[in-house]
Amino acid sequence: MEAKKIAAERAVDYIEDNMVVGLGTGSTAYWAIKKLGLRVKNGLDIRTIATSKESEGLARELGIKLVSFSEIKEIDITIDGADEVDRHYNLIKGGGGALLREKIVAASSKQFIVVVDGSKMVNELGKFPLPVEVVRFAYERTTKKLSDLGCQAILRKSKDKVFITDNGNYIIDCHFDSIKDSKELHKNINMIPGVVDNGLFVNMANRVIVGHSNGIIEEFKV
Ligand code: 5RP
Repeated sequence: MEAKKIAAERAVDYIEDNMVVGLGTGSTAYWAIKKLGLRVKNGLDIRTIATSKESEGLARELGIKLVSFSEIKEIDITIDGADEVDRHYNLIKGGGGALLREKIVAASSKQFIVVVDGSKMVNELGKFPLPVEVVRFAYERTTKKLSDLGCQAILRKSKDKVFITDNGNYIIDCHFDSIKDSKELHKNINMIPGVVDNGLFVNMANRVIVGHSNGIIEEFKV
């Protein structure tokens, strides 16, 4: 049983006609978009906002209606994955490099549903390197300032090329190993000039759906 798939598909049960839906990014959100595509084919009437060019492309392929922020007041439900979820339901996101749009979309949503497999649930955040989106100008200095916060800060590359986000920025992956106070760290990172945003999503999730390979699905209302 595909753990990510069953969690994502369960989240799609919350989507109703006339809703504005935020589409997440990554291999778990993929299954939610696929399921939404099937429901749209069967008559579900929704409008969606994507968190990445990748998800936008998939939605378009599946015939799901896409809109921009100028066409809506707010988003009813966003469904997205995460790299880590701690016991307070705070998250690390951005493994796929889409953290900025993901955070804007989640922050604009009445309900933010996080879908993960069991391996993403942790006691404490930080084993997964925290992605930080930075502008290209003076990124060397920004990287140094990030490492001064107590991490190993590494410019993300993909196939030997510097990874560029959908917004034209760089990602610095910050290896903290353990994050004791995610709220404080979030604030300290975002105070560094050159940082656009970071992958800590503190007090943002409203519901976390966890899929397990034995078919069991756990749901936590936050
Ligand atoms: C992309 C993300 C993803 O939600 C996160 O990386 C989880 O990905 P996956 O569902 O593929 O495990 O934040 O920026």
